[in-house]
Amino acid sequence: MASPLTVVIFGASGDLTSRKLIPALYNSDRKNRLPAEAKILGVARSGFTTEQFREKMKAKFIEYHKDQFDPNVWERFAARLHYVSGDVGENAAPLQAWFDEHEGASGGRRLYYLSVKPELYPSLSRGLGAIGYNKEIGGYRRLIVEKPFGHDMESGKELNAILHENFREDQLYRIDHYLGKETVQNIMIFRFANTLFEPLWNYQYIDHVQITVAETVTVKDRLAYYDTSGVIRDMIQSHLLQVMTLVAMESPNRYNADNLRNEKMKVLDSIPVSPIEAAAKVVAVGQYAGYREELIALKDKLMNEGKQFEADAINPDSKTPTYAAVRLTVENGRWKNVPFYIRSGKGMKSRYSEIMIQFRCPPHLMFPLPPGEILQCNRMTLVLQPNEGITLNFQTKVPDVEGTLLQPRDLSFNYRQAYDDKALPEAYERMLLDAIQGDASLFLRSDEIERAWELMDPLIAAMTSASAPIPESYPIGSQGPTGADELLGAEGRKWQVIQ
Ligand code: BG6
Repeated sequence: MASPLTVVIFGASGDLTSRKLIPALYNSDRKNRLPAEAKILGVARSGFTTEQFREKMKAKFIEYHKDQFDPNVWERFAARLHYVSGDVGENAAPLQAWFDEHEGASGGRRLYYLSVKPELYPSLSRGLGAIGYNKEIGGYRRLIVEKPFGHDMESGKELNAILHENFREDQLYRIDHYLGKETVQNIMIFRFANTLFEPLWNYQYIDHVQITVAETVTVKDRLAYYDTSGVIRDMIQSHLLQVMTLVAMESPNRYNADNLRNEKMKVLDSIPVSPIEAAAKVVAVGQYAGYREELIALKDKLMNEGKQFEADAINPDSKTPTYAAVRLTVENGRWKNVPFYIRSGKGMKSRYSEIMIQFRCPPHLMFPLPPGEILQCNRMTLVLQPNEGITLNFQTKVPDVEGTLLQPRDLSFNYRQAYDDKALPEAYERMLLDAIQGDASLFLRSDEIERAWELMDPLIAAMTSASAPIPESYPIGSQGPTGADELLGAEGRKWQVIQ
C-alpha cells in the first residue's frame, strides 16, 4: 500500500489557495491524476473546522470556476480536504495531532506549500525545521515556495541560505508559474522535437528576438506591494527571463531537472551584466497614466483608516515602473550580436504574450519593390496567450496583378483548434502534480534566481535611483511608452504591434 501523502497548504485561508491551488488539485482529481491516497491539509490561524473549510472552498470554487464544477467529483475531492487551525510555532500541537491520526507512527510523504506572504518564508521554513518537519520520516518532505524570491541579489541569496538551513536544494520547489503554461513548455517541444527550425535558430539566420508579456490589468488592490516591486522585479526578473532561457538554451541531452536547469543557467550566465552607468542604453521604462493618483488615493485611504505607518511608506512621487523594455544579449557562439528585446507592462492595449523571432532578410532580392516599401522579412511568432499558437509569416506572390507584387501572409497553427477536445489547463495543475511526483524540471534552482537578480539589479537601481528621471507616462490601453520604441528604433528595428 502507498504510504500516506499529504499536501499541506500553509496560509490556507488566503486567496491563492481558493483561487488557484484548490481548483488545480480538484481538476487533477477530476482527471484521475491525483494519487488515491492524497490528502490536502489546509493550515492557517483562522478557526475553521474541516467541514467549514470544505464549504468555504466549495463556495469559492463555484464562484470562480462554475463551469468546471461537477457535484460528484467535488464530493469525492472534498473528502480529501482537511483543516487545522494552528502554525509551526507555539501552536503546533493541533498539527502534530492531525499527523499522528492520519499518518500514524510510520510517517508519510509531505509536500508543504507556503501560500503565505513572502516575508513569512524564513520563519515558516525555520519553524518547520525547529519541530522536525523537515525530517524524511516515512517519505519525502518537499517545500513549494512562490515568487518573489527576494527583492534583489542579496536578499535572494539570503532567502536561499535560510531555506537551505533546513531543506536540501532537491527538496525545494520554487514556482514560476510561467513554466507551468503549456505554451511555454511547447517552446522546448517546438525547438527540440522538430528538425525544421533548429538549424536556423542562431545568429546566422535570426536578426533579433522580441518577447512580450502585455497585460491590460492595472495594479489595483496590489498597489502597496507593487509599488515596492515594479515590473522588472515582478515580471522580467522571473517570467520573461525564464521564457528567454527556453528560447536561447542549447538542447539538454535528457529531459530532467538537472540537465534542463543547467542549460537555462548557461544562458543566464552568458548574458552580460550591464553596469549601472550603461543601463539607460538598454532599458526603457514607463508608468501608466493615473498610477500616481492611485498612490495618492491609497495614501489618503490608509490615513483615514488610521494606518499612519503604512500611509507614510507610500511615496506619491514613486518612480516604480509599470512598463519596462530591456535589451539583452547572449554572449555565446549561437547568439553572437543577436539582441533579445523583452518587454512587459500593465495597463496595455490587450492581454497578449508572445515570442517573435525575426529572421534575417534574403541577401539579395530580385523582385522590385514599390517605391518606399521595404520587405517584411520572415518572422515567426509563438503566441503564449491568449490565442495560443504559432504563425510563420512569409512573402507570397499576389495573384492576378500586373507584374510581380509581394505580400506577407501567415501559416498558422492554433492550439485550441488543433486540440479542440482538450482545454489548456491552468499552470498550477501541472506544477503541483510534478512536485508530488518529484519532478523539479519546471521549478527554479537557487543559482538561476540569484543570477537573474544579478542581471536585473543594476537596471532596477538605474531606473529608480534619486537621479533617475521620472518614468515616461503612457496612456492606459496603449502600446506603452515611446522610449521603448526608441530602444529598438536606434537600431533600425520596430516592436511587433500589440493587437
Ligand atoms: C504574477 C505577477 O507573477 O504574474 C502579476 O505578480 C502578473 O503582476 C501575473 O499579473 C501574470 O500572470 P498571467 O499568468 O496572468 O500571465
